[in-house]
Amino acid sequence: MQQLEIDGGVRLEGRIDASGAKNAALPLIAAALLTEEPLRLSNVPRLQDVATMLKLLGGLGASVEDEGHGCVAVRAIDIPNQRAPYELVKTMRASFLVLGPLLARFGAAEVSLPGGCAIGARPVDQHLKGLEAMGAEIEVQEGYVTARCDGRLQGATVVFDMVTHTGTENLLMAATLADGTTVLENAAREPEVVDLADCLRAMGAKITGDGTATITIEGVPTLGGAAHRVIADRVEVGTYLVAAAATRGSVRIDGARPGTLEAVCAKLRETGATVEEGEDWISVDMPHRPAAVDIRTAPHPGFPTDMQAQFLALNAIAEGTARVTETIFENRFMHVQEINRLGAHIDFEGGNTAIVHGVEELHGAPLMATDLRASSSLVIAGLAATGTTLVDRIYHIDRGYERLEDKLRALGAIVRRLK
Ligand code: EPU
Repeated sequence: MQQLEIDGGVRLEGRIDASGAKNAALPLIAAALLTEEPLRLSNVPRLQDVATMLKLLGGLGASVEDEGHGCVAVRAIDIPNQRAPYELVKTMRASFLVLGPLLARFGAAEVSLPGGCAIGARPVDQHLKGLEAMGAEIEVQEGYVTARCDGRLQGATVVFDMVTHTGTENLLMAATLADGTTVLENAAREPEVVDLADCLRAMGAKITGDGTATITIEGVPTLGGAAHRVIADRVEVGTYLVAAAATRGSVRIDGARPGTLEAVCAKLRETGATVEEGEDWISVDMPHRPAAVDIRTAPHPGFPTDMQAQFLALNAIAEGTARVTETIFENRFMHVQEINRLGAHIDFEGGNTAIVHGVEELHGAPLMATDLRASSSLVIAGLAATGTTLVDRIYHIDRGYERLEDKLRALGAIVRRLK
């Protein structure tokens, strides 16, 4: 199993480019199922999760062409096999995003239940409830969701019980080909949802209100092909900004979208960092020890759960004490005991709040990655620590960070991948 060896204590300095967003690319690839014409995506990050999604579409019968330089063309002329198997869905929950498009275009889909994962139970009841409201007949048997509808799905009003990011995306895609108008209430406002809506509009969909809590979709009989550029990965950008602040560094990230990172930049400013923004870049400069900042995760535009672990690592070496409260996932603190192995002082208050007592120094140690964002927090802690940190199971990182070592080395970090 591959490991990342980090010689920490080096101030990160320099410029890197943002990659395309994993959580935008995955639903966009699924959207190719909505049309028989090709969907050409650019700025697609080379990541394990993207490879899994492309493999899933290939397995369903779509043609997938890697055109190089981050461009991928997917064409789903016919999909003879509408079954997404357990073997693929279990490795990546976002595979469940094929359900809405398959059902909307072919009137049938069979998709494995994703099950739980390291960060929590993560049910899909809201996806199913919404599709049922649109006229689908749904059965859950032997671990598979079987969904059918006679003719087209019917437009409906769907009120989500909680804000669900991929739930909103699944319903948004399904509604584009429905008969009549669908209104999604309490919808996710994440930038990746807006990016998906932009691409669907380019394919001929009629969507308004994306980026707000009410999205209205007027169904059309067919969609066509399109070319679409995946937005920059706000979580990747945020991760490098926090890594820079934790090492008292000075880093600029080009190709970023500052408007998608407001909560993160506001928190970085609270730590005492200078954050500057241009139209498509963000820079951070941290000349001294950061100040501790309280964090409470919330759906967008609140503070993103995908940045909680990284800020926890930053707080570990900050001046003062911080409360970090996770409200989205029930088990997203697996990084805490690992960061404590570096000499941090973090304990819990109840199940969902970590109290981080900042220490002056962390010291390198062997650590184990447990999920994607937890892994990136261990890397940040390792970069800030003195001595050598070995992060095991970095396949988690490869799911969501493109060329992590290259980018860190470009900023002066001393990191090696051990095979
Ligand atoms: N939920 C339900 N029922 C549902 C759907 C969601 O109870 O039918 C609950 C979940 O259990 C959770 C909350 O609602 O407690 C929010 O979950 P959501 O559905 O929004 O999460 P997701 O769509 O499965 C996406 C991202 C995650 C990110 C979350 C929150 C993708 C592919 N994944 O997951 O990204 O943390 O939204 O913003 O877009 C990551 O990139 O590391 C990652 C985990």
